[in-house]
Amino acid sequence: MSGRIHATRTSAPAVLFVDHTAMMGGAQHSLLDIAEAHRERGAIALLEDGPFAAALEARGVRVIRVGGGGALRRIKKTSVFPGIGALAAVARMSRAVARAARPFDLLYANSPKSFFVAALAGAIARKPVVWHLRDILGQGHFSGANVRAVIFAANWRAARVVANSRATADAFVAAGGRPSLVTVVHNGIDPSPFDALAPDTCREVRAELGIPADAYVVGCFSRLHPWKGQSVLLDAVARMPGVHALIAGGALFSGEAPYEAELRARAALPSYAGRIHMLGARDDVPRLLAACDVVVHASVLAEPFGRVLVEAMLAGRPVVATSAGGVPEVVTDGETGVLVPPGDAPALGEALHALRRDATRAAALARRGSAHARQRFSRSAMLAGVRRVIDEVAA
Ligand code: UDP
Ligand code: GLC
Repeated sequence: MSGRIHATRTSAPAVLFVDHTAMMGGAQHSLLDIAEAHRERGAIALLEDGPFAAALEARGVRVIRVGGGGALRRIKKTSVFPGIGALAAVARMSRAVARAARPFDLLYANSPKSFFVAALAGAIARKPVVWHLRDILGQGHFSGANVRAVIFAANWRAARVVANSRATADAFVAAGGRPSLVTVVHNGIDPSPFDALAPDTCREVRAELGIPADAYVVGCFSRLHPWKGQSVLLDAVARMPGVHALIAGGALFSGEAPYEAELRARAALPSYAGRIHMLGARDDVPRLLAACDVVVHASVLAEPFGRVLVEAMLAGRPVVATSAGGVPEVVTDGETGVLVPPGDAPALGEALHALRRDATRAAALARRGSAHARQRFSRSAMLAGVRRVIDEVAA
C-alpha cells in the first residue's frame, strides 16, 4: 500500500476494551487473548469485579474497575423495560468510561450491555466504538425490546461490528443492523495446553473422579443454563446403561442457580447409579476433555459459536453437537463431527450409540476435527482479524 496517509502506522492503536461482567464465559476467555495482544497500549474497563479481572491482570492487562455493573444484572436478556435505576446506572457508567477513554484511540465492547455503555461513552468522549458481537440477537435469546435498543445503538454509534460467526452476523442484519458494519472473525484457540497433556491424563482424571477406566464417557463443558441443553444430555444418557457423563460448568449468571439445582437433583437419582458427574466450574478443561470418549454440545437455542467445540477438537475428541446458529460453521456433519437437531434426546442418544459402536469412525472424525481446528480456528488468525478492524477504525 503506498501513497495512502494511513499506511505508516507502526504501533498498535491504543484500545480501551469494555466488558460488563467479570465472570469467565466464553466471551471473556476470547477477550483475554485479544486484550493480551493489545496490552502494551491498551487497558480494559470492567463494570464488575471478579475472576475475569484477575485473569486479565495475570496476563499483564491493565484493568480499570469502573464498577456499577450490579445494576445491569437486573436487566435480563429477555426483559422489556430496564427500569429507572438501571438507566441511571448506565448514564453513570457511561460517564466513567468516557473519562477513562480519553487517552485511547477507540473503545472495544465485548457484550451487548457493555456496548450500550460504550456507545454512550464514545459519544461523550468522541471516540469510535467497535462492538465484538458474540450473541445471536433474537431467536429466543433476547427480548424484542432489548434487540431494538442495541440495534439502534449499533446503527447510531458502532464504527464496526465484529461477529463471532456468520450466523451471529446474519442475525444482526436480520434484526435491522447495518450490513456494512459487520466483519466475521471466528474465535481462535491456542492449541498448546491441549498438546501439552501427558499421555496418561485420561487414566489419571478418571481415577480422580471415580470413573471406571474402561467406561464410555460423554463430556459436556458449558455454563449451566437451560439453553445450553445439559438436561437433554441427561435424557439421552438415561437410556444408555453404563455410560458416564461428565458435566463441567457453573451457573455463572444470576437466575441460573435453579437450573443447576434441578440438574444436580436429577444427577443424584438412583436410576443414574452415580453415572452423572456434576463437576461445577472448572479451570482444567483440557485435561477433563482428555478423560472423555466423546464431547457433546447440546444447546437447544442457536449457539453463536461454541468455543468448546474447537477445544474438544484440539483435544482430539469426536464431537456431537446441535445443528443451529454458528455450530455448522465449526463442525461439518460426518466430516469433523456429528450434528443432531437441537432438543432431540433420542437423536442425540442414537448419534452417541453409533460413535460408541464404531470406534474407527469416531477416531477418523476426531483426527479430521483436530486438523480442521488447528487450521481454521487458530488464535493468530483471530488476532489478525481483530487487529485489521481496529487498525481500520483507528485510521
Ligand atoms: N469452560 C471452563 N470451565 C468449565 C466449563 C467451560 O473454563 O467448567 C470454558 C470452556 O472451556 C470454553 C468456555 O468456558 O472456553 C465456554 O465458551 P463457549 O463459547 O463454549 O460458550 P459460552 O459460555 O461462551 O456461551
Ligand atoms: C459467547 C457465545 C459463544 C461463543 C463465545 C465466544 O459467549 O455464547 O457461542 O463461543 O461468546 O465468542
